[in-house]
Amino acid sequence: MSAKWLNDAVFYEIYPQSFYDSNGDGIGDLNGIREKLDYIRGLGCNALWINPCYDSPFKDAGYDVRDYKRIAPRYGTNEDMIRLFDAAHEKGIRVLLDLVPGHTSDEHPWFLESRKARRNAYSDRYIWTNGWLEGAQGMPFISGECERDGAYIPSFFKCQPALNYGFLNPSEPWQLPANHPAALKTREAIKDVMRFWLSRGCDGFRADMAESLVKNDDADRSGTSAVWRDIRRMLDLEFPDAVMVSEWGRPRLSLRAGFDMDFYLNWRGNGYSTLLRDYENHENADYSYFKKDGGSSINRFLDEYLRMLEDTRGQGYLSLITGNHDTIRLRHTLDETELKLAYAFLFTLPGVPFLYYGDEIGMRYLNLPTKEGGYTRTGSRTPMQWSQGPNLGFSTCEKEDLYLPVDESADAPTVAAQENDPDSLLSTLRAVLALRHREKGLQADGIFQVICSEPGKPFVYRRGELILALNTTGEALSVSAKLGEIQRIFQLGIVQYDGHLLSVMPQSFAIMKCTGP
Ligand code: NOJ
Repeated sequence: MSAKWLNDAVFYEIYPQSFYDSNGDGIGDLNGIREKLDYIRGLGCNALWINPCYDSPFKDAGYDVRDYKRIAPRYGTNEDMIRLFDAAHEKGIRVLLDLVPGHTSDEHPWFLESRKARRNAYSDRYIWTNGWLEGAQGMPFISGECERDGAYIPSFFKCQPALNYGFLNPSEPWQLPANHPAALKTREAIKDVMRFWLSRGCDGFRADMAESLVKNDDADRSGTSAVWRDIRRMLDLEFPDAVMVSEWGRPRLSLRAGFDMDFYLNWRGNGYSTLLRDYENHENADYSYFKKDGGSSINRFLDEYLRMLEDTRGQGYLSLITGNHDTIRLRHTLDETELKLAYAFLFTLPGVPFLYYGDEIGMRYLNLPTKEGGYTRTGSRTPMQWSQGPNLGFSTCEKEDLYLPVDESADAPTVAAQENDPDSLLSTLRAVLALRHREKGLQADGIFQVICSEPGKPFVYRRGELILALNTTGEALSVSAKLGEIQRIFQLGIVQYDGHLLSVMPQSFAIMKCTGP
């Protein structure tokens, strides 16, 4: 059973480098996050996911951890993190940290030992072949870096050697079974990291590349799932309130492995991408559902989504995201009206939604050279835009000292400019989230039922007692419906009902209470 608070949870993802710089050194920090908790709460978010903020050489923006138990000095200290946990809790905000269980930095002390020629307590902490010239059965391998006669398996970049959780069906002498004492020690080491932060006030973790721990795993990831179930048993005993969200994208597997939530990931051509980022499948055009002229059908999303929803029923939650630190920001192709409709839809779906910092004001994707292993992701990681003025209110540093440049366009969106404008993207999202908190039917557990998804008609769906109608196109659309008396509790654009016909004007959306069936 997942924690009850998840039913009404709305997460806010913070890339700590870029959220708010409290000490003027050009990079965001934990005290900066603490200063902005009221803003986050006022937005309607009651939980945070903070990207890795541990000591690291930052070759992959912190996903290359050098010390799991130490906050990177550029973000502050362990005490700052504890102060952040406490302050967040006082305001009713939960905090999830990012757990990177599959690999460390090649500068982590475990790896510095593991790479030595002489056998030691860490020799099997990572996956190594038996000789420098030996291939790794089709897996990528790195040779020629270490005094040890062997090659290690990178988990992502070369600087991220894979931790050893064993193999499902070992077929080479260097492959350990998943129940080998050395593989079990890796598991225990990660549990130890989790205990460290949970006992200091952390509320749970987002698990990086959660499906990839045990190698040569089968299609159902039974080896990796067993590891997570074991970790969940530890949590149930020692930290029963801890919540876990997986970067996995297959809720049928991940939720049964003990996760409370699984991200619906942005994979080329899948339901999520056809909904929001269809340009990845087409060279020059975005046909995502929310494009006014995209001509796309909601059914491309629904076909997959309804199946995934079925898979999660009673097991945990699917988490839809506006974006994250790995995706191109939605504002890259959706304009403000399209974004409003997209958010109205995303945040009225079941499951536990995640908002990526800056998406609430429609921050743009910037074309930038790579930073800390970001490559094309760098443009989605730029400083939060708080107000007009130097560095858009992110930092008091000199412009050249910024971690990444801010959006320099004259119409760069800011919190200050949108805060008091009732029609802004920020105000629209706030209103939707306020409604979600008020109306049980809109929350994670509430039912979702498709009433009309026929092409050429508005998309109409039910959440609990509420009826929602959406038209993303540039044409007025209508459908006959028996709704009885209707009361609109939220509206974008124009939605009308004459007792028989529900008419949804171009790019419009409404949430209605109805007395009819
Ligand atoms: C997924 C993370 O979201 C991404 O940013 C990172 O580069 C890889 N995992 C490797 O940890």
